[in-house]
Amino acid sequence: MLKVLFLFLSIFVSLMASGLITPIPESAPYDAKKASLGEKLFFDTSLSSDKSVSCSSCHNLYTSGTDNLEDSVGVGGKKGQVNSPTVYNSAFNFVQFWNGRAKDLKEQAKGPIVNPVEMANTPQNAVNSIKSNKAYKDEFAKLYKNGVTFENIADAIAEFEKTLITPNSKFDRYLKGDKSALNTQEKEGYALFQNKGCISCHNGVNIGGNMFQKIGVMVEYKDPKKINGRFDVSKKESDRDMFKVPSLRNIELTAPYFHNGLVKDLEEAVRLMGYHQLGIKLKEDEVKKITLYLKTLTGQKPQKYAK
Ligand code: HEC
Ligand code: HEC
Repeated sequence: MLKVLFLFLSIFVSLMASGLITPIPESAPYDAKKASLGEKLFFDTSLSSDKSVSCSSCHNLYTSGTDNLEDSVGVGGKKGQVNSPTVYNSAFNFVQFWNGRAKDLKEQAKGPIVNPVEMANTPQNAVNSIKSNKAYKDEFAKLYKNGVTFENIADAIAEFEKTLITPNSKFDRYLKGDKSALNTQEKEGYALFQNKGCISCHNGVNIGGNMFQKIGVMVEYKDPKKINGRFDVSKKESDRDMFKVPSLRNIELTAPYFHNGLVKDLEEAVRLMGYHQLGIKLKEDEVKKITLYLKTLTGQKPQKYAK
């Protein structure tokens, strides 16, 4: 009973707070010069300790903005535990990382460079290797008063990430008034997405990415990997199994799913959501329709990265 009350309360609060789903704007503001510098850094393996790994190793912009692996592989073949989210549209998330430990993209970008299972570097070493490249040194000097610093490296990368947005999905065109952008089944899927209550957690411009929620609100979810979620940041018992609600944009491209990367298939993710988050067993045709709707959330990548 309490759980039901909690769910309705959270549905109400979240709808009040974030409204419904809004289309991605055609472009979001960014500094073009810094973004162009950040783009080079994003693809540059010299930010990692053994110069083998770049941001793009785990966030492939030509595909999904992820590595499509259960666990990402960093320097020396080391593996992390959580699944890599897409960098596409991450600019619209209210905080970064599954547990929200970075407040924005700039703070986020420093994380992987020093993470021992990702780029395994030190800030000083990363700064030195960028400084040793004259072209970079000159470009930084033009754009930042204090030249190459760890802060400025993160700032430029974050500026680039603001360009990584995917507007004009079928569903965005539908929201903007083109009622023929979705077919009947996709429309039925959207109706189910609303009526069953998915939209209470997945809403806003990213259809997610704007709140923390527990995995297993209605029926407990046992994580084989025992990843704590938001608890690791806040140390509050109530934050155990709390994660940033992931964006559902481009979801058909970003398998595997869930923070632990253990769900291989989108229909299975939908089924599990119905069960653990809503306490219902969705019928198979409902699962299919919701999945068809989710596939209308695939947007247009920047021209350069579109296949
Ligand atoms: C070894 C693989 C790997 C590398 C290299 C890597 N990432 Fe990630 N990235 C991940 C994983 C895994 C996560 C999720 C970590 C977590 O939530 O605790 C993540 C999370 C993110 C997020 C948060 C997205 C969200 O929705 O919360 C952004 C943004 C991001 N990475 C950008 C970058 C940038 C920029 C670089 C380079 C400086 C980079 N990543 C390098 C694997 C990687
Ligand atoms: C109470 C909040 C809540 C409700 C309701 C909810 N979700 Fe989720 N959703 C989450 C959270 C939190 C996660 C992340 C779970 C994890 O990784 O442990 C998630 C993850 C997902 C994922 C996987 C995303 C990824 O990148 O791994 C999909 C797909 C999804 N939800 C779809 C749905 C659908 C469809 C419904 C309705 C049937 C739904 N959700 C209902 C909170 C919710």
